[in-house]
Amino acid sequence: MAEQDFILLNLKQSFREIFQNTCSTNSYFAPGRVNLIGEHTDYNGGAVFPCAITLGTYAIIARNQMGYMRLYSANFPEAGIREIALTNVEFAQQDQWANYVKSIMWVLQQEGVSFEEGYDIYYYGTLPNQSGLSSSASIEVLSCMMFLSEQQLTISNEKIALLAQKAENEFMHVQCGIMDQFAISMGKKDHGIYLKTQTMEYKYAPIILGDYQLMIVQSNKKRTLGDSAYNQRRLECEEARLLLSKNKAIESLCELTVEDFYELQDLIQDPVLRRRAFHVITENQRTIEAYEALQKGDLLKFGRLMNESHESLRDHYEVTGKELDTLVETAWKQTGVIGARMTGAGFGGCTIHLVQKDCVSSFVHEIETVYEKECHLKADFYQVSIGDGPQKIIS
Ligand code: GLA
Repeated sequence: MAEQDFILLNLKQSFREIFQNTCSTNSYFAPGRVNLIGEHTDYNGGAVFPCAITLGTYAIIARNQMGYMRLYSANFPEAGIREIALTNVEFAQQDQWANYVKSIMWVLQQEGVSFEEGYDIYYYGTLPNQSGLSSSASIEVLSCMMFLSEQQLTISNEKIALLAQKAENEFMHVQCGIMDQFAISMGKKDHGIYLKTQTMEYKYAPIILGDYQLMIVQSNKKRTLGDSAYNQRRLECEEARLLLSKNKAIESLCELTVEDFYELQDLIQDPVLRRRAFHVITENQRTIEAYEALQKGDLLKFGRLMNESHESLRDHYEVTGKELDTLVETAWKQTGVIGARMTGAGFGGCTIHLVQKDCVSSFVHEIETVYEKECHLKADFYQVSIGDGPQKIIS
Protein backbone atom coordinates (compact mmCIF):
# COMPACT_ATOMS: atom_id res chain seq x y z
CA MET A 1 0.00 0.00 0.00
CA ALA A 2 1.34 3.47 -0.88
CA GLU A 3 2.45 5.54 2.11
CA GLN A 4 -0.25 8.15 1.59
CA ASP A 5 -3.05 5.53 1.43
CA PHE A 6 -1.77 4.03 4.65
CA ILE A 7 -1.74 7.42 6.39
CA LEU A 8 -5.28 8.17 5.18
CA LEU A 9 -6.67 4.83 6.28
CA ASN A 10 -5.38 5.43 9.79
CA LEU A 11 -6.60 9.01 9.85
CA LYS A 12 -10.13 8.04 8.78
CA GLN A 13 -10.26 5.42 11.49
CA SER A 14 -9.05 7.91 14.10
CA PHE A 15 -11.59 10.45 12.81
CA ARG A 16 -14.45 7.99 13.54
CA GLU A 17 -13.08 7.16 16.98
CA ILE A 18 -12.60 10.77 18.05
CA PHE A 19 -15.84 12.25 16.72
CA GLN A 20 -18.17 9.22 16.62
CA ASN A 21 -19.35 10.70 13.33
CA THR A 22 -20.53 8.21 10.69
CA CYS A 23 -21.22 10.69 7.85
CA SER A 24 -19.16 10.30 4.68
CA THR A 25 -15.76 11.99 4.83
CA ASN A 26 -13.49 13.80 2.38
CA SER A 27 -9.71 13.96 2.60
CA TYR A 28 -7.40 16.85 1.76
CA PHE A 29 -3.68 17.59 1.81
CA ALA A 30 -1.55 20.73 1.65
CA PRO A 31 2.25 20.73 1.55
CA GLY A 32 4.82 22.62 3.60
CA ARG A 33 7.53 24.65 1.88
CA VAL A 34 11.21 25.38 1.84
CA ASN A 35 12.66 28.55 0.48
CA LEU A 36 15.59 27.70 -1.79
CA ILE A 37 16.85 31.29 -1.80
CA GLY A 38 15.49 34.85 -1.39
CA GLU A 39 15.26 35.29 2.36
CA HIS A 40 13.64 38.32 3.99
CA THR A 41 13.05 39.82 0.56
CA ASP A 42 9.29 39.18 0.34
CA TYR A 43 8.28 42.10 2.56
CA ASN A 44 10.76 44.31 0.69
CA GLY A 45 9.23 43.91 -2.76
CA GLY A 46 11.92 41.43 -3.84
CA ALA A 47 12.10 38.00 -5.40
CA VAL A 48 11.74 34.67 -3.59
CA PHE A 49 12.36 31.18 -4.87
CA PRO A 50 10.59 28.57 -2.72
CA CYS A 51 9.12 25.15 -3.47
CA ALA A 52 6.41 22.99 -1.92
CA ILE A 53 7.56 19.74 -0.30
CA THR A 54 5.88 16.38 0.10
CA LEU A 55 5.69 16.76 3.89
CA GLY A 56 2.57 18.68 4.88
CA THR A 57 -0.84 18.60 6.53
CA TYR A 58 -3.73 16.16 6.05
CA ALA A 59 -7.36 16.77 7.00
CA ILE A 60 -10.39 14.48 7.14
CA ILE A 61 -13.69 16.36 7.15
CA ALA A 62 -17.40 15.52 7.47
CA ARG A 63 -20.54 17.50 8.22
CA ASN A 64 -21.75 17.20 11.83
CA GLN A 65 -25.20 18.88 11.87
CA MET A 66 -24.36 20.44 15.24
CA GLY A 67 -24.26 24.09 14.26
CA TYR A 68 -20.62 24.43 15.32
CA MET A 69 -17.20 23.11 14.29
CA ARG A 70 -15.31 20.41 16.12
CA LEU A 71 -11.57 20.45 15.40
CA TYR A 72 -8.97 17.95 16.50
CA SER A 73 -5.26 17.72 15.73
CA ALA A 74 -3.34 14.48 16.10
CA ASN A 75 -0.24 16.65 16.64
CA PHE A 76 -1.74 18.36 19.70
CA PRO A 77 -3.84 15.65 21.38
CA GLU A 78 -3.56 17.45 24.73
CA ALA A 79 -5.64 20.31 23.27
CA GLY A 80 -8.54 17.86 22.83
CA ILE A 81 -11.51 18.67 20.60
CA ARG A 82 -11.88 22.41 20.08
CA GLU A 83 -15.51 23.50 19.62
CA ILE A 84 -15.79 26.60 17.47
CA ALA A 85 -18.92 28.69 16.86
CA LEU A 86 -19.77 29.38 13.23
CA THR A 87 -20.22 33.13 13.59
CA ASN A 88 -18.38 35.96 15.41
CA VAL A 89 -15.14 34.05 15.08
CA GLU A 90 -12.48 35.57 17.34
CA PHE A 91 -8.95 34.68 18.39
CA ALA A 92 -8.94 32.78 21.72
CA GLN A 93 -5.72 31.75 23.44
CA GLN A 94 -7.22 28.50 24.72
CA ASP A 95 -8.00 27.36 21.17
CA GLN A 96 -4.24 27.15 20.53
CA TRP A 97 -3.46 25.67 17.06
CA ALA A 98 -7.17 25.83 16.10
CA ASN A 99 -6.84 29.62 15.82
CA TYR A 100 -5.25 29.03 12.40
CA VAL A 101 -8.45 27.36 11.22
CA LYS A 102 -10.51 30.12 12.80
CA SER A 103 -8.42 32.71 10.98
CA ILE A 104 -9.52 31.13 7.70
CA MET A 105 -13.20 30.98 8.72
CA TRP A 106 -12.89 34.67 9.59
CA VAL A 107 -11.25 35.65 6.31
CA LEU A 108 -13.72 33.61 4.23
CA GLN A 109 -16.65 35.18 6.06
CA GLN A 110 -15.26 38.56 5.10
CA GLU A 111 -15.39 37.35 1.49
CA GLY A 112 -19.09 36.52 1.90
CA VAL A 113 -18.75 32.76 2.52
CA SER A 114 -21.11 31.64 5.27
CA PHE A 115 -20.91 28.51 7.38
CA GLU A 116 -24.45 27.29 7.91
CA GLU A 117 -23.58 23.83 9.12
CA GLY A 118 -20.77 22.64 11.29
CA TYR A 119 -17.97 20.26 10.31
CA ASP A 120 -15.87 17.79 12.22
CA ILE A 121 -12.26 18.02 11.06
CA TYR A 122 -9.33 15.82 12.01
CA TYR A 123 -5.91 17.32 11.20
CA TYR A 124 -2.56 15.55 11.04
CA GLY A 125 0.72 17.17 10.04
CA THR A 126 3.89 15.42 8.92
CA LEU A 127 5.89 18.66 9.14
CA PRO A 128 7.97 18.94 12.28
CA ASN A 129 6.53 21.62 14.61
CA GLN A 130 8.32 24.96 14.85
CA SER A 131 10.60 23.91 12.03
CA GLY A 132 10.19 26.94 9.82
CA LEU A 133 8.73 24.70 7.10
CA SER A 134 5.48 26.66 7.35
CA SER A 135 3.20 24.27 9.18
CA SER A 136 0.94 27.24 9.98
CA ALA A 137 0.63 28.38 6.36
CA SER A 138 0.03 24.74 5.44
CA ILE A 139 -2.97 24.49 7.82
CA GLU A 140 -4.29 27.83 6.60
CA VAL A 141 -4.07 27.04 2.89
CA LEU A 142 -5.43 23.53 3.48
CA SER A 143 -8.41 24.83 5.48
CA CYS A 144 -9.14 27.52 2.92
CA MET A 145 -9.25 25.22 -0.09
CA MET A 146 -11.10 22.55 1.92
CA PHE A 147 -13.88 24.89 3.10
CA LEU A 148 -14.29 26.24 -0.42
CA SER A 149 -14.36 22.76 -1.93
CA GLU A 150 -16.87 21.46 0.65
CA GLN A 151 -19.19 24.33 -0.29
CA GLN A 152 -18.62 23.79 -4.03
CA LEU A 153 -16.96 27.19 -4.34
CA THR A 154 -13.80 27.81 -6.31
CA ILE A 155 -11.32 30.61 -6.27
CA SER A 156 -7.85 30.70 -7.77
CA ASN A 157 -4.91 29.35 -5.80
CA GLU A 158 -3.27 32.78 -5.99
CA LYS A 159 -6.29 34.26 -4.24
CA ILE A 160 -6.18 31.48 -1.63
CA ALA A 161 -2.57 32.50 -0.90
CA LEU A 162 -3.57 36.14 -0.45
CA LEU A 163 -6.49 35.23 1.82
CA ALA A 164 -4.29 32.99 3.95
CA GLN A 165 -1.71 35.76 4.27
CA LYS A 166 -4.45 38.21 5.29
CA ALA A 167 -5.65 35.71 7.91
CA GLU A 168 -2.09 35.42 9.29
CA ASN A 169 -1.52 39.21 9.29
CA GLU A 170 -4.87 40.42 10.56
CA PHE A 171 -6.22 37.55 12.66
CA MET A 172 -3.02 35.93 13.96
CA HIS A 173 -1.19 39.30 14.06
CA VAL A 174 1.98 37.89 12.49
CA GLN A 175 3.35 40.32 9.91
CA CYS A 176 4.63 37.68 7.46
CA GLY A 177 5.13 38.35 3.75
CA ILE A 178 3.40 36.39 0.97
CA MET A 179 6.05 33.75 0.34
CA ASP A 180 4.88 30.86 2.53
CA GLN A 181 1.22 30.91 1.57
CA PHE A 182 2.08 31.40 -2.11
CA ALA A 183 4.63 28.58 -2.21
CA ILE A 184 2.11 26.21 -0.65
CA SER A 185 -0.92 27.24 -2.72
CA MET A 186 1.00 27.24 -6.00
CA GLY A 187 3.31 24.25 -5.41
CA LYS A 188 4.23 22.13 -8.42
CA LYS A 189 5.98 18.76 -8.34
CA ASP A 190 9.70 19.00 -9.16
CA HIS A 191 9.50 22.78 -9.69
CA GLY A 192 10.61 25.85 -7.78
CA ILE A 193 8.45 28.97 -7.89
CA TYR A 194 10.25 32.18 -8.75
CA LEU A 195 7.98 34.96 -7.51
CA LYS A 196 8.48 38.70 -7.80
CA THR A 197 6.58 39.87 -4.76
CA GLN A 198 6.16 43.44 -5.95
CA THR A 199 4.12 42.52 -9.03
CA MET A 200 3.13 38.96 -8.01
CA GLU A 201 4.43 37.71 -11.38
CA TYR A 202 5.76 34.20 -11.06
CA LYS A 203 7.50 31.53 -13.14
CA TYR A 204 8.04 27.86 -12.48
CA ALA A 205 11.57 26.53 -12.83
CA PRO A 206 12.18 22.78 -13.17
CA ILE A 207 14.49 21.58 -10.43
CA ILE A 208 16.58 18.79 -11.81
CA LEU A 209 18.96 17.72 -9.10
CA GLY A 210 20.52 14.74 -10.89
CA ASP A 211 23.07 13.19 -8.55
CA TYR A 212 22.16 15.53 -5.73
CA GLN A 213 19.60 15.25 -2.94
CA LEU A 214 17.84 18.12 -1.21
CA MET A 215 18.25 17.56 2.52
CA ILE A 216 16.48 19.45 5.28
CA VAL A 217 18.03 19.52 8.72
CA GLN A 218 15.80 20.55 11.61
CA SER A 219 17.87 22.27 14.29
CA ASN A 220 15.30 21.68 17.05
CA LYS A 221 16.26 25.07 18.40
CA LYS A 222 13.13 26.71 19.79
CA ARG A 223 12.36 30.00 18.07
CA THR A 224 11.45 31.78 21.28
CA LEU A 225 12.20 35.31 20.05
CA GLY A 226 11.22 34.49 16.47
CA ASP A 227 8.17 36.69 15.95
CA SER A 228 9.42 39.77 17.76
CA ALA A 229 12.84 39.70 16.07
CA TYR A 230 11.10 39.18 12.71
CA ASN A 231 8.90 42.23 13.27
CA GLN A 232 11.97 44.20 14.36
CA ARG A 233 13.77 43.37 11.09
CA ARG A 234 10.74 44.61 9.19
CA LEU A 235 10.84 47.90 11.05
CA GLU A 236 14.58 48.24 10.39
CA CYS A 237 14.00 47.71 6.66
CA GLU A 238 11.29 50.34 6.70
CA GLU A 239 13.61 52.81 8.44
CA ALA A 240 16.37 52.11 5.91
CA ARG A 241 13.92 52.58 3.04
CA LEU A 242 12.84 55.99 4.36
CA LEU A 243 16.46 57.12 4.72
CA LEU A 244 17.30 55.95 1.20
CA SER A 245 14.25 57.83 -0.11
CA LYS A 246 15.69 61.23 0.85
CA ASN A 247 16.29 62.41 -2.71
CA LYS A 248 14.00 60.12 -4.66
CA ALA A 249 11.14 58.15 -3.11
CA ILE A 250 11.50 54.39 -3.28
CA GLU A 251 8.57 52.14 -2.56
CA SER A 252 10.53 49.10 -1.45
CA LEU A 253 14.21 48.29 -0.84
CA CYS A 254 14.36 45.80 -3.71
CA GLU A 255 13.68 48.52 -6.26
CA LEU A 256 17.37 49.33 -5.83
CA THR A 257 20.14 47.42 -7.57
CA VAL A 258 23.35 46.67 -5.71
CA GLU A 259 25.02 49.53 -7.66
CA ASP A 260 22.23 51.95 -6.65
CA PHE A 261 22.78 50.97 -3.07
CA TYR A 262 26.51 51.67 -3.19
CA GLU A 263 25.72 55.15 -4.48
CA LEU A 264 23.10 55.89 -1.84
CA GLN A 265 24.45 54.07 1.20
CA ASP A 266 25.86 57.20 2.86
CA LEU A 267 22.28 58.31 3.46
CA ILE A 268 22.19 55.63 6.16
CA GLN A 269 24.47 56.52 9.08
CA ASP A 270 23.54 53.65 11.38
CA PRO A 271 25.76 50.66 10.48
CA VAL A 272 23.11 48.18 11.60
CA LEU A 273 20.44 49.63 9.32
CA ARG A 274 22.97 49.80 6.50
CA ARG A 275 23.78 46.11 6.89
CA ARG A 276 20.09 45.18 6.91
CA ALA A 277 19.46 47.01 3.64
CA PHE A 278 22.65 45.56 2.14
CA HIS A 279 21.45 42.02 2.85
CA VAL A 280 18.02 42.59 1.34
CA ILE A 281 19.32 44.18 -1.86
CA THR A 282 22.13 41.68 -2.45
CA GLU A 283 19.82 38.75 -1.58
CA ASN A 284 17.38 39.93 -4.23
CA GLN A 285 20.23 39.96 -6.75
CA ARG A 286 21.33 36.46 -5.68
CA THR A 287 17.79 35.19 -6.14
CA ILE A 288 17.64 36.49 -9.70
CA GLU A 289 21.02 34.85 -10.42
CA ALA A 290 19.97 31.60 -8.75
CA TYR A 291 16.89 31.35 -10.97
CA GLU A 292 19.05 31.92 -14.05
CA ALA A 293 21.63 29.38 -12.88
CA LEU A 294 18.95 26.71 -12.45
CA GLN A 295 17.50 27.48 -15.86
CA LYS A 296 20.94 26.67 -17.28
CA GLY A 297 21.28 23.58 -15.09
CA ASP A 298 24.26 25.16 -13.30
CA LEU A 299 23.83 23.51 -9.90
CA LEU A 300 27.31 24.45 -8.71
CA LYS A 301 26.57 28.14 -9.14
CA PHE A 302 23.19 27.67 -7.48
CA GLY A 303 24.97 26.05 -4.52
CA ARG A 304 27.49 28.89 -4.26
CA LEU A 305 24.66 31.42 -4.16
CA MET A 306 23.01 29.43 -1.35
CA ASN A 307 26.26 29.65 0.63
CA GLU A 308 26.55 33.40 0.04
CA SER A 309 22.94 33.83 1.11
CA HIS A 310 23.69 32.17 4.43
CA GLU A 311 26.78 34.31 5.00
CA SER A 312 24.74 37.44 4.42
CA LEU A 313 21.93 36.27 6.72
CA ARG A 314 24.57 35.54 9.36
CA ASP A 315 26.70 38.69 9.03
CA HIS A 316 24.39 41.41 7.73
CA TYR A 317 20.85 40.40 8.64
CA GLU A 318 21.86 38.57 11.84
CA VAL A 319 19.06 36.01 11.94
CA THR A 320 21.05 32.77 12.12
CA GLY A 321 22.50 32.06 15.58
CA LYS A 322 24.90 29.40 16.78
CA GLU A 323 22.73 26.38 15.94
CA LEU A 324 21.97 27.25 12.30
CA ASP A 325 25.56 28.40 11.75
CA THR A 326 26.96 25.17 13.17
CA LEU A 327 24.78 23.05 10.89
CA VAL A 328 25.61 25.06 7.78
CA GLU A 329 29.29 25.65 8.45
CA THR A 330 29.82 21.96 9.27
CA ALA A 331 28.01 21.04 6.06
CA TRP A 332 30.25 23.33 4.00
CA LYS A 333 33.23 21.23 5.08
CA GLN A 334 31.70 17.90 4.00
CA THR A 335 32.56 16.12 0.78
CA GLY A 336 29.68 16.16 -1.67
CA VAL A 337 27.91 19.26 -0.26
CA ILE A 338 27.59 21.94 -2.95
CA GLY A 339 25.29 24.35 -1.11
CA ALA A 340 23.92 24.93 2.39
CA ARG A 341 21.96 27.70 4.07
CA MET A 342 19.31 28.41 6.65
CA THR A 343 15.78 28.61 5.29
CA GLY A 344 12.73 30.63 6.43
CA ALA A 345 12.70 33.38 9.03
CA GLY A 346 15.76 32.12 10.94
CA PHE A 347 16.47 32.28 14.70
CA GLY A 348 16.03 28.48 14.75
CA GLY A 349 14.11 26.18 12.43
CA CYS A 350 15.78 24.41 9.51
CA THR A 351 18.71 24.47 7.16
CA ILE A 352 18.73 23.13 3.57
CA HIS A 353 21.57 21.37 1.83
CA LEU A 354 22.37 20.09 -1.64
CA VAL A 355 24.22 16.84 -1.04
CA GLN A 356 25.63 14.35 -3.52
CA LYS A 357 23.50 11.20 -3.20
CA ASP A 358 26.45 8.90 -2.39
CA CYS A 359 27.50 11.19 0.45
CA VAL A 360 24.14 11.43 2.26
CA SER A 361 24.90 8.89 4.99
CA SER A 362 28.33 10.32 5.82
CA PHE A 363 26.74 13.80 5.77
CA VAL A 364 24.10 12.74 8.28
CA HIS A 365 26.60 11.04 10.54
CA GLU A 366 29.08 13.92 10.58
CA ILE A 367 26.54 16.73 11.06
CA GLU A 368 24.72 14.81 13.77
CA THR A 369 27.94 14.26 15.73
CA VAL A 370 29.33 17.78 15.44
CA TYR A 371 25.96 19.39 16.16
CA GLU A 372 25.38 17.38 19.28
CA LYS A 373 28.87 18.12 20.53
CA GLU A 374 28.76 21.88 19.79
CA CYS A 375 25.13 22.71 20.49
CA HIS A 376 23.94 19.89 22.77
CA LEU A 377 20.91 19.31 20.58
CA LYS A 378 19.82 16.47 18.35
CA ALA A 379 19.22 17.39 14.72
CA ASP A 380 16.56 15.65 12.58
CA PHE A 381 17.21 14.87 8.92
CA TYR A 382 14.70 14.77 6.07
CA GLN A 383 15.35 13.73 2.47
CA VAL A 384 12.58 15.66 0.79
CA SER A 385 11.00 15.74 -2.62
CA ILE A 386 9.39 18.75 -4.26
CA GLY A 387 5.65 18.23 -4.37
CA ASP A 388 2.33 19.66 -5.61
CA GLY A 389 0.09 22.29 -4.00
CA PRO A 390 -3.11 21.68 -2.00
CA GLN A 391 -5.43 18.96 -3.19
CA LYS A 392 -8.55 16.96 -2.45
CA ILE A 393 -7.43 13.34 -2.28
CA ILE A 394 -9.64 11.03 -4.28
CA SER A 395 -9.06 7.47 -3.14
C1 GLA B 1 8.90 33.76 7.24
C2 GLA B 1 7.77 34.60 6.66
C3 GLA B 1 7.97 34.80 5.15
C4 GLA B 1 9.36 35.35 4.85
C5 GLA B 1 10.44 34.51 5.56
C6 GLA B 1 11.81 35.11 5.42
O1 GLA B 1 8.86 32.47 6.72
O2 GLA B 1 6.54 33.97 6.90
O3 GLA B 1 6.96 35.64 4.64
O4 GLA B 1 9.44 36.69 5.21
O5 GLA B 1 10.15 34.37 6.95
O6 GLA B 1 12.24 35.07 4.10
